[in-house]
Amino acid sequence: MSPSLERRVLSGMRPTGMLHLGHYHGVLKNWVELQHQYECFFFVADWHALTTEYENPSGIADSVWDLIIDWLAVGINPGEATLFVQSRVPEHAELTLLLSMITPLGWLERVPTYKDQQEKLKDKDLATFGFLGYPLLQTADILIYKAGHVPVGEDQVAHIEFAREVARRFNYLYGREPDFKEKVEEAARKMGKKGAKLYFDLRKRFQERGDNEALATARAYLESQHNIALGDRERLLGYLEGSGRVILPEPQALLSPESKMPGLDGEKMSKSYGNTIGLREAPDSIVQKLKTMRTDPARVRRQDPGDPDKCPVWQFHSVYSGDEVKAWVQDGCRNAGIGCLECKQPVIDTILAELAPIRERAEEYVKDPDTVRAIVAEGCEAARDVARDTIAEVREAMAVVYR
Ligand code: TRP
Ligand code: SF4
Repeated sequence: MSPSLERRVLSGMRPTGMLHLGHYHGVLKNWVELQHQYECFFFVADWHALTTEYENPSGIADSVWDLIIDWLAVGINPGEATLFVQSRVPEHAELTLLLSMITPLGWLERVPTYKDQQEKLKDKDLATFGFLGYPLLQTADILIYKAGHVPVGEDQVAHIEFAREVARRFNYLYGREPDFKEKVEEAARKMGKKGAKLYFDLRKRFQERGDNEALATARAYLESQHNIALGDRERLLGYLEGSGRVILPEPQALLSPESKMPGLDGEKMSKSYGNTIGLREAPDSIVQKLKTMRTDPARVRRQDPGDPDKCPVWQFHSVYSGDEVKAWVQDGCRNAGIGCLECKQPVIDTILAELAPIRERAEEYVKDPDTVRAIVAEGCEAARDVARDTIAEVREAMAVVYR
């Protein structure tokens, strides 16, 4: 894949209500970092929400705006990243349809989330075409931007693997032009005699000896060539790597650093466990939740010693506190030198301080829906420009062109 596309990142989130600290520490902080290093596309996966919420879709629209506001509030910058809504870029649907023609049914049936989710969400009838096709829609989301990296959690890795297989099959079926070799040679000549020789030598080293350094050098060299057209670059890359022309590059999962964000009960923070602290939650409510959260049951009275390892408050200290405070907790808890409320105070202070600017920025955006809508409209347009180009290539490859 061309290095510039390898530097393109895409990720999506389903609009399922307000975000909480678990999302912030698990996903969004990572996105904020990525936007400085990569060309990022972040989108609200509203069609994906419909796959499970089709009986009661009226809440999705509000969640879409809440999600965008939460993103902006945590520092996703529309000047750096492209923010958009999936259904506003209908090319995702066309690509899903076209890819569905080449996707074996068995591949979809074997994606682990298909059966898992059906088991888990028993109150919903998920024996639908849309739900079965979920991973293919996700594949189209990714491939339509030719994204090189997809930041996701562990639970989504199988979907990215699926996307890679679909891309590979697509390239296999449609990247084999009858006169591929001739076209490669023609493209190589555009790099000059020396350049072409370098390219073929490096390819040989990679193909015959598995020399990965040669592969990397050749890729970088191709990237530095500014006077070759995109199609030619894809041919040269495809020939280099031993495939045909790569039309839809295979994406890679970019595993998010595992979030250790505990919930109020010490389990992973999650809406379904009812143990969350919302990103825009009122300070009183946060204080109340933290003050009443469970501690080590051994500490019935103030003078009973405790064990931080048996206390969810300690997990918050692990995330938020420095060494000094941690030592103070360890000692004070085990020796009954501090009370639990006292112990919670630094956590309360840190969380309130962390969330105050987020809540304030969110309030600004809530008061100014026009700005939010303008940001999204602009993002959708920018995303569509890219998506249209890919769809044109895909139509061409699949011979869905009538001139
Ligand atoms: N399936 C993802 C989730 O449930 C959301 C999603 C949809 C997504 N399309 C995507 C994530 C494309 C990454 C890339 O979390
Ligand atoms: Fe938990 Fe702190 Fe109380 Fe110990 S002192 S039980 S770590 S809240």
